[in-house]
Amino acid sequence: MLILHFIGLALGLGTSFAHAFFDPLISKMEKEEATKFRLQVMILSKMGYAGITLLIVSGIYLILPYWPTLPDNPLLIIKLILVFILCILILFIGRGTQKARQGNAAEHLNKIEPLGKLTLMISVIIIILAVSIFH
Ligand code: HEM
Repeated sequence: MLILHFIGLALGLGTSFAHAFFDPLISKMEKEEATKFRLQVMILSKMGYAGITLLIVSGIYLILPYWPTLPDNPLLIIKLILVFILCILILFIGRGTQKARQGNAAEHLNKIEPLGKLTLMISVIIIILAVSIFH
């Protein structure tokens, strides 16, 4: 399950990093071309969904032994709260992408861009917390 957790991590975090690495490329494009490209690369969201799903499914199994002592483990509680916030952000990004596909793409993509950066930051904090808790 820890191996699945790490595969989920690679898929999930990989999605956030891939989007961050597109930024310099997008900044060199014409506005229309950039919007088209940004819409196309949102296909990567599927990789992100696969990642977070794997993380949650494997995470629920992995947390079973820690569950009875959860109240004594504040860092683990913070990790779970951050995972919850991450899921909410992913839902907002998904909704924004859907709206962008229906029209006013640039406006909706601009709205979800900071959320994408936030998911990357929160994911890194979750990893730092997880390693501090379990090592
Ligand atoms: C419902 C969601 C999640 C739960 C319940 C959960 C729970 C756990 C548990 C119990 C472990 C320890 C496994 C062990 O060695 O016994 C673990 C490890 C880990 N988790 Fe999660 N996790 C979740 C989501 C996430 C997310 C979203 C991330 C990253 C963005 C993440 C990153 C990690 C990392 C890096 C480790 C390895 C820590 C280490 O072995 O040093 N987890 N997780």
